[in-house]
Order: sequence, then structure tokens, then C-alpha cells
Amino acid sequence: MESSFYCDKCTQILPGWAVPDDNAVIREFASAIGLVDAAGRPTKVGAALVLDFYSRLLTAAPALAARFPQDLVDASAALDGAGAKQRDRLLRAVLSVMSTFNPGDEQRMAALIAVLEEMALKHQRHGATIEEYAAVVSVLLGVLGDFARTSNVPHNIWLEAFEPALRRALTFASGRMMAAESAITAQPVEEPPTEVLERPETLEDSEALAQS
Ligand code: HEM
Repeated sequence: MESSFYCDKCTQILPGWAVPDDNAVIREFASAIGLVDAAGRPTKVGAALVLDFYSRLLTAAPALAARFPQDLVDASAALDGAGAKQRDRLLRAVLSVMSTFNPGDEQRMAALIAVLEEMALKHQRHGATIEEYAAVVSVLLGVLGDFARTSNVPHNIWLEAFEPALRRALTFASGRMMAAESAITAQPVEEPPTEVLERPETLEDSEALAQS
């Protein structure tokens, strides 16, 4: 695939790929695989990507299926079904990580961390393990790599620029979610004060207590 970028040093459009920093690289990748259109708006490619992602995740870790809606990987199920809704939520989360992850910008990183902590709060009840988080990152990178291949992204550019930047973003996201989840779990639960109940010795005592 022919690609070009604006070189701000020589102020010309040059053939090839710009690799100024992770955020720009990831944005460029999103456009290279058609995940976003020329104006940066999400396209239908995202729906195919998450469907592929969940199919592979459940193949790699079948035990996870029980925690998700039954129609999670059923592309023909109703669009307003639980599976489609979950895929849409994940897509939004992935797009948000891809667009916000920017190690050079403290404010954007703080905003991303706030989003990740909120997601971690929602995940707490699912009790995901480190291995499951690692599986999510590796399956997602595998799917993104395949979309790169089918979009004719040169393999060396995938290996040298896109994959490392995406890996850093996704590892950061899952690391922050795991850290936030364990911080929530480690918080001491405030016990309500124990009510001391008088223990009835006899049936009459219990009736007397009930009437008091
Ligand atoms: C970087 C890693 C992950 C991201 C970005 C992510 C993202 C999300 C998002 C956005 C939701 C929807 C939350 C809501 O609004 O209710 C969700 C739900 C869920 N996630 Fe994750 N997740 C990640 C890792 C994991 C892992 C490792 C597990 C393994 C157990 C997991 C299991 C679930 C389950 C069971 C749900 C709820 C599905 C339902 O409501 O039926 N997630 N995830």
C-alpha cells in the first residue's frame, strides 16, 4: 500500500511512514487499516475487528465464554442483543485507548488513566487474572497484525513501528486496569458495627424479646 506523510521539518508530503511518537504512530495505524476514515471517525472495520477478537479470545480461553453473553461471537444475532452491545463497548474502549494513549502528553495520560480506573471498577466482579489480561493483549495484537496484513501494511513497518507502539498502549491499559482492580480489592471493607443481640434462653424469653 502506498503511504505518505507530512514532514514538518521539510514541509513536504513524503512517501513512507511518519514515526514521530506512539500516539501519531497508532493514529496512522488506525487509518492504515481503515479503522477510522480520513476525518478520524470510526468506520465499520471496528465491528469486524472486535468480532474477530472475541472469536479468537474464546478459542484461546474457552472458559471465558461463560462470563460473556451467549451471542458474543454470533454476528447474525440481533444488533441490539447483549453480545453486540458488549462488542460495541469493547470497540469504544479500544478506540479510546488508541486515540488517548500519548506518553508525551501528561494531561491525556491522566484522562486515560481515569477511564481505565473506571473500567477496572466495572471489571472487579469478573475477577480477571493476570493471564487473562495477557491473553486479551496478545489476541488483540494478533488480530491487529492480521488486519495490517490484509490492508497491505508493509510487514517491517508493522514489526518496527506499529506493533511496538500498540503493544505499549495495550500493555499500559491492561497494567493500569489490573493495578486499579487490585487496589480496589485491597481496600479494607468497613464492617457495620456488630449488634449485640440478647440470646433467648427459653421460648418464653424469645417471645418476651419479640414483644419488647
Ligand atoms: C485491556 C483489557 C480489557 C479491556 C479494555 C476491557 C474492556 C471492557 C469493557 C469496555 C467492558 C464493558 C464494561 C461496561 O460498560 O459494563 C467489558 C466488560 C467485560 N469484560 Fe473486559 N476488558 C478487558 C479485559 C478483560 C479481561 C481480561 C476479562 C476476563 C475475565 C474481561 C471480562 C469482561 C466481562 C466478563 C465483561 C462483562 C460482559 C457482560 O456484561 O456480559 N475483560 N470489558
